Amino acid sequence: MKIYCAPLEGVTTYVFRNAYNTIYGNVDKFFSPFLSPAENCPMTPREKKDIAPENNEGINLVPQILTCRSDHFIDAAKALHSMGYSEINLNLGCPSGTVCTKGKGAAFLQETDALQVFLDAIYSYSESEGIKISIKTRLGYSDPEEFHDLIGIFNSFPVSELIVHPRIRTDFYKGEPRKEYFAYALKHVKCPLVYNGNIYSAEDYEELVSTFSSSLDPIMTGRGLISDPSLLDKLKGTISETDFTKFRKLHDTLYHEYQKVMSPDINVLHKMRELWTYWQVLFDGKERDIKRLMKAKKIAEYEASVSGIL
Ligand SMILES: Cc1cc2nc3c(=O)[nH]c(=O)nc-3n(C[C@H](O)[C@H](O)[C@H](O)COP(=O)(O)O)c2cc1C
Repeated sequence: MKIYCAPLEGVTTYVFRNAYNTIYGNVDKFFSPFLSPAENCPMTPREKKDIAPENNEGINLVPQILTCRSDHFIDAAKALHSMGYSEINLNLGCPSGTVCTKGKGAAFLQETDALQVFLDAIYSYSESEGIKISIKTRLGYSDPEEFHDLIGIFNSFPVSELIVHPRIRTDFYKGEPRKEYFAYALKHVKCPLVYNGNIYSAEDYEELVSTFSSSLDPIMTGRGLISDPSLLDKLKGTISETDFTKFRKLHDTLYHEYQKVMSPDINVLHKMRELWTYWQVLFDGKERDIKRLMKAKKIAEYEASVSGIL
């Protein structure tokens, strides 16, 4: 089974990808958090650093672009192609207000005429350059029934892979994924299809397989992989319990690597805190230490809390 790591802005950074890839491996593709190209600026220095090949050695990385302007997409794709990337992912799922008010991400799904013109332009470019474009999408903006028309649109382009997060924009990341629409996609989507959403355990995956009466391969996981970094080993059937030796190694690597690239210390602590919002589910009974860790303002306080947990 192929497993993809979902992009999580601020979490699956190049620092995270390198640490995870070295300690755990098993990720067939990482997708970068979105790059948001602007006029004459295909990417910011910070975005460029995140996807620079020298910062992603040995990692199978697909950069992701978020835009509703085909000229901006093509400018960014040219820059990425010249850096050596031959697959690019289009973000049609981001639900955030700041993104959607600009007509990008999930909001672009409502504008089906403009979307077709956009896809026509970017696929003409990609075909002429031999680049693959995959798409990460939701079911629609405000109604999952939008998905039927969207599938018709996606089927008319050479989409290299369609990653479906079966929620609509207004669901954000909450509630049960609308699995019946993914079942519809399995029947009607012509290109390779990837399931994404709420896979936190091997049991979650098994349940999906029985719901769809179909093996799902590849799958993409984001919060599940972050919350329990051993998830991929569990999905592959090589272990059944979380490996805390590897977890400690992942924690320490991230902590030290972020200290090298971030300052002052409080920024490193913010970054680690964000990770602990996912990791805390692994540490039943350690709620007091975790609460203390979340409040830590100094490195020494943070480290003392960590040693009470790990
Ligand atoms: C904090 C956060 C940041 C995210 N950033 C991105 C992003 O940059 N690009 C993207 O396509 N999806 C982004 N997503 C969505 C995830 O890639 C994924 O589709 C979603 O979390 C559902 O999958 P999961 O249940 O496996 O986490 C983000 C989600 C979260 C919670």
